[in-house]
Amino acid sequence: MDLMQDIINRAKANKQRIVLPEGTDERTLRAADRLLADQIANIILIGNPEEITQLAKEYGLNHIHEAIIINPLNHEKKQAYAELLFQLRQKKGMTIEKAVTVIEDPLYLACLMIKAGDADGEIAGATNTTGDVLRPALQIIKTTPGISSVSGAFLIFSKEKIYGEDGLLIFADCAVIPDPTAAELAQIAISSAKTAQDIAGIEPRIAMLSFSTKGSAKHERVDKVIEATRLAKEMEPTLKIDGEMQTDAALVPSIGERKAPSSEIAGKANVLVFPSLEVGNIAYKLVERLGGAEAVGPILQGMAAPVNDLSRGCSEEDIYKMVAITANQAIGAKSAK
Ligand code: ACO
Repeated sequence: MDLMQDIINRAKANKQRIVLPEGTDERTLRAADRLLADQIANIILIGNPEEITQLAKEYGLNHIHEAIIINPLNHEKKQAYAELLFQLRQKKGMTIEKAVTVIEDPLYLACLMIKAGDADGEIAGATNTTGDVLRPALQIIKTTPGISSVSGAFLIFSKEKIYGEDGLLIFADCAVIPDPTAAELAQIAISSAKTAQDIAGIEPRIAMLSFSTKGSAKHERVDKVIEATRLAKEMEPTLKIDGEMQTDAALVPSIGERKAPSSEIAGKANVLVFPSLEVGNIAYKLVERLGGAEAVGPILQGMAAPVNDLSRGCSEEDIYKMVAITANQAIGAKSAK
């Protein structure tokens, strides 16, 4: 996969500080060791330092000593982070006493490190649920200017090179917003275009998917996708986007030509925006399991600084790749400032 190698090379050329809050998880430690050995990122592990050192010895890892290890219960910036959390969340009922306890949670600590400028990005989720990884990020790091909805995209590497960009497609939202409004769908499209450019290095051609193509069916769910397409165009007039359309019209040139003859996107889409999380999440797992595609992600998009969530079934290799992707997002976020 050449794209993945490009992503790794870009991370290597501009090393970012990536915090891994699940510092005692075996897959996380093994990935961290390889990332340090390959010089892909500066790694910060959160966890008990003695336990991490002991585990590294047990697993025969030789580079973990190069990581910064933060003990969440006892470190020099504990008070400063508690005050930062209190400042950020006092309107939501946070007290300084509560903040001192909350920051002992590695998932909150990691986000506060990013917010304070002590780290550039975070990866977690090998041992925590999506909700537990996302909530502190949404509360502390918040969204990038112009975007109010965070969503999750996958890079799909299909063996069928005739689809998307030589087999590469972006699928979104597959991870975050269960039932998006039209405005949220429009933001998912805009954020996915940025992911296509910054991470996949492709010019986005976005299809807003539905069970209808250009009025072939009438339903309020179809209306939502039509409205989302209009809103996305209004927000970003240069965006190459069209909808509503069915997946076959989006991907297959001859069907696109028949069902949506005047569309610039039909038959050529490389970014697929799904009408709900159910569809997006089910679709990516189907193409992965039944279609033999490789799915890399979820890549969280629309956040002010990158935080990415892993599946609890992830492998050491998944963590390695997601660290490189997160580093690329951090580089993109810094260059946009
Ligand atoms: N974008 C931006 N901000 C958001 C979003 C969003 N999509 N969702 C919630 N927020 C903000 C809220 O505004 C709120 O901010 P505030 O506290 O400053 O006011 C904060 O996040 C917390 O919001 P809640 O509504 O209390 O959070 P909730 O408990 O609903 O959690 C979450 C949000 C975790 C994203 C939830 O929507 C969720 O669980 N989504 C589904 C995740 C999932 O299970 N995905 C499938 C598995 S992933 C996979 O298979 C790849």
